[in-house]
Amino acid sequence: MKRARVIGTGSYLPEHIRTNFDLEKMVDTNNEWIVARTGIEERRIAADGEQTSDLATRAAERAMEMAGVSAEEIDLIVLGTITGDYPWPATACIIQNNIGAKNAYAYDLSAACSGFVYALSSAVDFLEAGRGKKALVIGAEALSRIVDWTDRNTCVLFGDGAGAVVLDLQEGDAGVLSSHMHSDGSYLELLYQPGFGTRNQVSQEAAKDPANYTLVMQGNEVYKVAVRSLAEVSQEALDANNLSTKDVDLFIPHQANRRILEATAKRLKLVDEQCFINVNKYGNTSGATIPIAMDEANRQGLLKDGSLVLMSAFGGGFTWGSVLLRW
Ligand code: ACO
Repeated sequence: MKRARVIGTGSYLPEHIRTNFDLEKMVDTNNEWIVARTGIEERRIAADGEQTSDLATRAAERAMEMAGVSAEEIDLIVLGTITGDYPWPATACIIQNNIGAKNAYAYDLSAACSGFVYALSSAVDFLEAGRGKKALVIGAEALSRIVDWTDRNTCVLFGDGAGAVVLDLQEGDAGVLSSHMHSDGSYLELLYQPGFGTRNQVSQEAAKDPANYTLVMQGNEVYKVAVRSLAEVSQEALDANNLSTKDVDLFIPHQANRRILEATAKRLKLVDEQCFINVNKYGNTSGATIPIAMDEANRQGLLKDGSLVLMSAFGGGFTWGSVLLRW
């Protein structure tokens, strides 16, 4: 049987580090509160002039280098993002041009923090349907551009970054075993960006007030649904493959905050050694957290041939999903 196998991973984090101590000088917060409630110690911030496509391009190049794949061999590029360079066209097309993947078709996918899981699932379906052999799947965000840096409720949580994988359709047992996606649009107003769509077009005057274009979140409510959904969709992936949490070698959840991850792992009865957590270094980079974490785990040698890897994400929409793969 042919499966979509990950043959290369890459990530890129902007150089500039914004620590909790930096934030203490910007809003009424403190390092102890942020660490206790979120586990986040620092996050990366894209430089002026550095765009989502730039972060994504670097991550993609690193993934292709590891895979030993040239840009011309890529058939499909899917980018999970909610902070594209422009409302349209797709930032994936900008990346395609940057890397010179002239034979690829490219599109963006908007599923907020579930963006990479949705993108991966979508790319796998295309490959398995015969619409190409090699795909580049990317999660990239410059969330610092849509965060209100005067709002302590949200600004401490987010950061910028990108991660990418190269998928190759290969014969064998390794590769994506299954993917599972869900949405519930009734939760829209708990986590969204009100401005810049057709509903609230932002006038030049209104654009001077960050409240008109930055993200809005009711953290407490998001927290409760996130933990429940992440645990359920993770279990769904295992059940679909007649596997249990004991079989999981590495759980790579969306890195929203440490408390959500720990509560989810507890529900699933996963032990610390099975869970990959790097939210302390980068905060929540939305669609980029899972591919960044996967790349770090891979380069640390945690992913070996045959390892069972479970990825789960939850985000605005609400959207949530999981992917189970054999490394
Ligand atoms: N520094 C200091 N105090 C703060 C800060 C801050 N940065 N932010 C909020 N507070 C205060 C609040 O004002 C409140 O004060 P009050 O009691 O005087 O009113 C108090 O801390 C408690 O606020 P809560 O919102 O109840 O704090 P909570 O324990 O729920 O933690 C948090 C907030 C971290 C946002 C939590 O709700 C959470 O993690 N939610 C999930 C949100 C999330 O991860 N969103 C990302 C997108 S979705 C996803 O990726 C899963």
